[in-house]
Amino acid sequence: MYPIAAGIVVQTRELSEELHRSLEDLSIRLLLELSEIPTDWPGFLDRIDRVRPDVIMLDVMHLREPLEDVVRRIRSTAAHPAVFALHTTAEPAAILEALRAGASEYLYPPLKDALKAALERLSQAREGSREGGKPTGKTLGFVSAKGGCGATTLACHIATQLPRLVQSKVLLADLDMQAGLVGFLAKTKSPYSIADAVNNLQRLDQSFWHGLISNGIPDLEILTAPVAPGAKQVLVPQLKQVLAFARGQYGWSVLDLGRNLNGATLSILDLVDETYLVTTHEVPALHQAKQMIRFLLDSGYPQANIRLILNRLPKRLDVTLDEMEQMLGLPIFATLANDYHALQEAYVEGRLVDGNSHLGKSFGRLAAKIAGTTEDKKKKFTLFG
Ligand SMILES: Nc1ncnc2c1ncn2[C@@H]1O[C@H](COP(=O)(O)OP(=O)(O)OP(=O)(O)O)[C@@H](O)[C@H]1O
Ligand SMILES: [Mg+2]
Repeated sequence: MYPIAAGIVVQTRELSEELHRSLEDLSIRLLLELSEIPTDWPGFLDRIDRVRPDVIMLDVMHLREPLEDVVRRIRSTAAHPAVFALHTTAEPAAILEALRAGASEYLYPPLKDALKAALERLSQAREGSREGGKPTGKTLGFVSAKGGCGATTLACHIATQLPRLVQSKVLLADLDMQAGLVGFLAKTKSPYSIADAVNNLQRLDQSFWHGLISNGIPDLEILTAPVAPGAKQVLVPQLKQVLAFARGQYGWSVLDLGRNLNGATLSILDLVDETYLVTTHEVPALHQAKQMIRFLLDSGYPQANIRLILNRLPKRLDVTLDEMEQMLGLPIFATLANDYHALQEAYVEGRLVDGNSHLGKSFGRLAAKIAGTTEDKKKKFTLFG
């Protein structure tokens, strides 16, 4: 279900109280609220432009201007929010006038059931337009088959390369709540983490978001995992709302999903367009990878969206890539050579791997393949990148 973000402009006290009661049990994100009809329309429209709600719930009883004009202006902002007209009366003339003016719903007390149904209709419509090809952000998840296979290393290096390749803003978010390392590897400065976004959903708009993220590399913004033990448990529905919000803000989002799959990562997979499963050639890792693939497929995740990456390949292998593909039942999307020294040297110097080094070039080629900018998309990587 598409998560709905709303703005409320309600001056009539009876409507306001009823609306808040009705919203209590509904899972919507409230982005802005006014208790008076705005007098400064340009300022108000600017705010709508910034927070991009899906709907404005508008008290139509106190408007000083024709409803038609008000709806048109609200609809002309960036996110084209729907307008729900709220009134205390169910008079047919008032209903007709509101719908003719372009409101998508007309609601009056008791609001609860009608509002829920209206939000469901809106959610379906928004989902439909997303599936209809409207460009929203693409989300990539990196997960390690077994601890230490290299999911974090890849997420960081790929995310760094993507802005240049996809020509858009990229988010790197650390969802490894237990052992998030992205902040350390990418040398972020913000003291805030994804837990602050999850715990402040009602404040989540662009300006709040900008207070949370770190940036140092142009067009790459980073949201780290919480460090404090008490902040590590985040609620999944709220986390999903944060990710859905991020999706609208960035052309591409890269998520470090940590090791293996847990309840939280599994339940956000419907927001992950491509899952990069990072494994090594070692038998325990391959065994875990195979189990994860089976688990993903059993839970309905499309096979075409699972991308297998063999990391840390030694110069000599006991098994061939074909044998590994047969064992795992999936093609290998890319392989990367084992280069302990390149990574160690970079980390000692507090930076990521140099793009001109052998491993750096491999990361670059993999990023290009993920971005779809390589010439021959079918060509498999050579064994040593
Ligand atoms: N291609 C590589 N060559 C050599 N060492 C690598 C390579 N990729 C990653 N490593 C090293 O392997 C170790 C584990 O990497 P990383 O932290 O990225 O794995 P992870 O899958 O995120 O682990 P975790 O499960 O702990 O989150 C690190 O020391 C990293 O530098
Ligand atoms: Mg990791």
